[in-house]
Amino acid sequence: MTERLLVAALLLAAAWPAEAATPSGEALYKTYCWQCHGSRGTGHGINAGEHMSVQPRDHTDAKYMAARSDEELFRAIQEGGPAVNKSVLMPPWGGALSDEEISRLVAYLRDLCRCRHGAAP
Ligand code: HEC
Repeated sequence: MTERLLVAALLLAAAWPAEAATPSGEALYKTYCWQCHGSRGTGHGINAGEHMSVQPRDHTDAKYMAARSDEELFRAIQEGGPAVNKSVLMPPWGGALSDEEISRLVAYLRDLCRCRHGAAP
């Protein structure tokens, strides 16, 4: 009997995704960021266009993104564009997203650009 319970508990633990509590970076991006940055991260979301004086960043631009450190990206997301001398059109997300969620977004941005800081392709 105890053995069965143990097996059930182990199965449950294995089936439970680690990020059940925190969504993946991709899921977060597709909830909060795609409207401006586009679902592929190229900066062409439905909000982007001529009415925006500054266009959303193309997160697949490896050359540009490699020039940015993870800390700068984190800060831009948490505190908004002006915190890194960028446009106010990039909103701050610190009130809505936890540090863990922002870190996942930074990691997802690195997936999108297929780059890392200081390593331009
Ligand atoms: C309302 C539109 C809008 C939304 C929503 C938005 N952004 Fe932005 N974002 C912008 C604009 C516009 C810029 C360009 C700012 C500039 O270059 O001055 C930008 C720039 C950035 C940058 C680049 C900062 C840099 O160093 O150049 C990052 C990183 C970023 N956004 C991440 C995100 C993430 C992650 C989300 C979702 C949590 C998000 N953005 C949601 C409009 C938006």
